[in-house]
Amino acid sequence: MDFKTKPFITLFLFLLFSSIFSLTFSAANKPFSTDKSHRVGSSAVFRVHGNVYPLGYYTVSLNIGYPPKLYDLDIDSGSDLTWVQCDAPCKGCTKPRDQLYKPSNNLVQCVDQLCAAVHLTSDHHCSSPDEQCDYEVEYADQGSSLGVLVRDYVPLQFTNGSVIRPRIAFGCGYDQKHSGTTSPPSTTGVLGLGNGRTSILSQLHSLGLIRNVVGHCLSGRGGGFLFFGDDLIPSSGIVWTPMLPSSSEKHYSLGQAELLFNGKPTTIKGLDLIFDSGSSYTYFNSKAYQTIVDQVTNDLKGNQLKRATEDPSLPICWKGSKSFKTVSDVKNYFKPLALRFKKVKNSQMLIPPEGYLIVTKHGNVCLGILDGTEVGLGDLNIIGDISLQDKMVIYDNERQQIGWISYDCDRIPNIDRDFEDDAFPHPYAANFGIFDDRCAA
Ligand SMILES: *[C@@H]1O[C@H](CO)[C@@H](O)[C@H](O)[C@H]1NC(C)=O
Repeated sequence: MDFKTKPFITLFLFLLFSSIFSLTFSAANKPFSTDKSHRVGSSAVFRVHGNVYPLGYYTVSLNIGYPPKLYDLDIDSGSDLTWVQCDAPCKGCTKPRDQLYKPSNNLVQCVDQLCAAVHLTSDHHCSSPDEQCDYEVEYADQGSSLGVLVRDYVPLQFTNGSVIRPRIAFGCGYDQKHSGTTSPPSTTGVLGLGNGRTSILSQLHSLGLIRNVVGHCLSGRGGGFLFFGDDLIPSSGIVWTPMLPSSSEKHYSLGQAELLFNGKPTTIKGLDLIFDSGSSYTYFNSKAYQTIVDQVTNDLKGNQLKRATEDPSLPICWKGSKSFKTVSDVKNYFKPLALRFKKVKNSQMLIPPEGYLIVTKHGNVCLGILDGTEVGLGDLNIIGDISLQDKMVIYDNERQQIGWISYDCDRIPNIDRDFEDDAFPHPYAANFGIFDDRCAA
């Protein structure tokens, strides 16, 4: 594939392990208890950096360790395990050593419940109890990370003002493969937001710190915010649709949708969709993709936009009589797309031109929807960052539903005074005395 910007498709979490079942683990069948009577009323909020183009990813800076160090992690609702590049003999690590994570006697042991969870797909066996816990994550774009599980403090400031530093298990990745021709990631790792047991979300929930809800708001002007917990969710105006019961793949699937073009139904129905913040662009199966390309092309007939075959940014680009600066310069030439979900009345997601176009550094406008069948996604359709921009998107694992609402993602609601861009997260330094015993196991 000739993608110049990183089409980071990070779903399909395959955790591979060859082990033999051991009776040691019968006790680990129900590793986490969730106390439903305990109403958790706080959230953790993070400033998001990045953009769809030219970067191709959105990141948050997560504090890890004691004393804490900041790591820029690609936010990925398409996978579970969080990992950082490891300061060990490291293959495919792209960061200088001072930005790598150094384990210090904090390896997760093979007998740990989370180690079993990371090896879900096969039996799990430890030849000795203090053996380390290896992991491997493979992503749909052929990238992967291999490493060892560690557990360390992840200090978080909550919306109620408390700073708590739970110990969270995550991967220390020493062997990363980057997909095909794409450039290596500029992030120090991945923040897995899936609902599998190993995700940071599930771990924080198991510790009783947050409700099992995560949301993001990615701004079309770059940046935005991410939250764990449900404090920031508006009380009205959200379109909710049921989450499909999670299959073996832990990603956020929506029910089947039909595709509308400019408000009118197309022949495309029954699209299986997932929301994946780890993918920069949106991918439809060949048939839907071709329908969109045909409709858009047909619509452009007779106006001043011409195909720009010399722009290498994406497969389909157009140029105008003079070069464009932003999507606003061209959006009048394009019609909105929409996805209509069958199960719920009025459950529709509008994708305006800003949700499927980028303007490149060459001044052309390109289609940010790609052919997923061509890159091996089969019939799965991925709604990536480009189409999730300027919306608050909420993955509510408590109620098994996914919601969205148009939103100004440049400002964190209500709490901006506490979460000024660079003022956060430095307050930790002062707050480090605060310690929650529950989390210090
Ligand atoms: C704030 O929220 C956190 C996380 O839910 C909780 O552990 C802590 O006890 C709360 N602090 C106060 C002062 O209520």
